[in-house]
Order: sequence, then C-alpha cells, then structure tokens
Amino acid sequence: MRAIIVYDSKHGNTERIAEAIGKGLRESGVSFVTVIWVNKACEDDFHDIDLWVIGSPTRWGGPTFKIRTLLSNAIRYEGKGRRFAVFDTRYEKVHSGASERLRATLKKGGLAEVIEPDHFVVMGGNGPLKEGEESRAEAYGKRIAERALIM
Ligand SMILES: Cc1cc2nc3c(=O)[nH]c(=O)nc-3n(C[C@H](O)[C@H](O)[C@H](O)COP(=O)(O)O)c2cc1C
Repeated sequence: MRAIIVYDSKHGNTERIAEAIGKGLRESGVSFVTVIWVNKACEDDFHDIDLWVIGSPTRWGGPTFKIRTLLSNAIRYEGKGRRFAVFDTRYEKVHSGASERLRATLKKGGLAEVIEPDHFVVMGGNGPLKEGEESRAEAYGKRIAERALIM
C-alpha cells in the first residue's frame, strides 16, 4: 500500500503531528509513505496513492485555503477509489475544527473513510503541542494502517 500525508503548517505543530503519523504508518507495515508540506505538493503527488492522510491547522473553524485548494484538485483528478483519514490541530476544548470540513470534502468526493478524524491540541497559536500529542499521533498512524491494510 502506498500512502501520502499532506499537511499545512505555519508554526510546525501540524508538521510534527504529520511526521508522527507517518512514523506510525511505517511501523505498522505501510512500505511507501510520503510526508509532504502543502506548499511543496501538487495533484501529481496523489497519482497511484491508495491512502490519503490530510491534516491542517484549524483556522477560523476550518482548514487552510492551500489545503482546500490542493485537495479539491487532487480529488477531481486522482480521487477515484482512494481511501482517506484526516486530522487537525486546534486549541483545547474546541469541538469542531479543520478535520470535520476535510472529512466532508473527501466523503463528498467519493473517497472511502478509513477511520474517524482525530485532532491534536496546541496550547497557543504558535504551539507548543500539548504533552503527549506526538505519541498519540503515532498511535493514530498505527490505527490508520491497521484498518487500511484490511479494507
Ligand atoms: C488566523 C488564525 C485563526 C485560528 N482559528 C482557530 C480556530 O478557529 N480554532 C482553533 O482551535 N484554533 C484556531 N487557531 C489556532 C491554530 O489552530 C494554531 O495556530 C495551529 O494549530 C498551529 O498549527 P501550526 O503550528 O502547524 O501552524 C487559529 C490561528 C490563526 C493564526
């Protein structure tokens, strides 16, 4: 199985979560995992990739413009028959964030959801991540892999 993790990040917190999820995927047997910042990604990066993992910081309750734009193009050209999982970073005790919107977009595009979205807490706008969130992200990556490998 081939997987791509595309994330946006201004202050590095969502990037750290993306890398930890990537570690979890690799540890659980996904052999080909690319972790890529949205600014360096394009639709072609999704070509022949079975599992899409998409993450964004929460901005005004939703994903960043760059993630939304790339995703809608990727779905249009490469989305058929793919599986997905989504995550975001957000403040503590915020009940809705970027991942809910990403999930709705991918479902509407016809992709199959592997697992419920998860979110990871930042203690302030620039971070840091709440203690333990990177380990939780690695465990989330392992769960994504376990489910995707049997789907
Ligand atoms: C313009 C702006 C709007 C934001 N809106 C929200 C929000 O609606 N809900 C929330 O939980 N966090 C919000 N945040 C905090 C971000 O979630 C936080 O900056 C982000 O998780 C940091 O991720 P990064 O280090 O990967 O850039 C906002 C931050 C900025 C700069």
